[in-house]
Amino acid sequence: MNKAFDDIPSARHDLARRIEELAPWFHNIEIAGIQTAPGHMLGDHPRDKWNQFQHILPRDLEGRSVLDIGCNAGFFSLEMKRRGAGRIVAIDSDPRYIAQAELVFDAFNLDADLRRLSVYDLASLGERFDLVLFMGVFYHLRHPLLALDLIHEHVADDLMLFQTLQRGDPTQLAIPMDMAFSLTDPFDNPAFPRFNFIENRYAEDPTNWFIPNRSGSEAALRSSGFAIEAHADPDVYLCRMIERPQWVEPPPPIAV
Ligand SMILES: C[S@@+](CC[C@H](N)C(=O)[O-])C[C@H]1O[C@@H](n2cnc3c(N)ncnc32)[C@H](O)[C@@H]1O
Repeated sequence: MNKAFDDIPSARHDLARRIEELAPWFHNIEIAGIQTAPGHMLGDHPRDKWNQFQHILPRDLEGRSVLDIGCNAGFFSLEMKRRGAGRIVAIDSDPRYIAQAELVFDAFNLDADLRRLSVYDLASLGERFDLVLFMGVFYHLRHPLLALDLIHEHVADDLMLFQTLQRGDPTQLAIPMDMAFSLTDPFDNPAFPRFNFIENRYAEDPTNWFIPNRSGSEAALRSSGFAIEAHADPDVYLCRMIERPQWVEPPPPIAV
């Protein structure tokens, strides 16, 4: 799948220089024997992570369309192509990551539609996808539920692969449909659905905003119209798009 960099020493030299120019890389991808992020703090990332959850995705994506939101350097778009995906649209809001993905897609001859676009502007794509990847972006957003709503309203057609950093109690809690106003104990339960708000930085990163616990992640998915079909690793979810469930209908207008 790699282009033939090895045959032409100057091409390999140019490749190494370009990889360095575009550093730092969050995705470690090996191109013609050169690793883009060999010293990654998470190890061989995201390959090690992918190996932990790849079994929850259909093996055969023959001809299915994929939208990769927050594609970064394109690791997951490449893996979807390896599973036979058809049309791939990959978006990211950061121009440096778009440049990295451009290099990677070119090196692997991946024919993907790569665009600098924010998740908040998804409506401008004007199409829906069989599989949406929404991996590692949720907790980087100041408006995470808006993003899920926009995915549901404008681009999802069937499956969504979702990952979020999680912190706090990992217990899965059964949430009641309603609670009396006077009932305050459930809020003292650390497993109650929670989005931990980061006012300043987490892990030296000022783009971390809301880090949910497990119940919080799962409640957010359900309430945005994504039924959880499979779960792995422990913060990756394969979801199927359904009608938004429990939004309260406004009362009918009063006849005058
Ligand atoms: C932690 S990385 C995850 C990358 C990749 N999806 C993965 O799971 O390995 C977060 C990515 O989301 C992108 N991102 C952050 N805010 C975004 C936004 N509003 N719209 C689109 N992409 C965004 C970042 O530029 C970055 O590439």
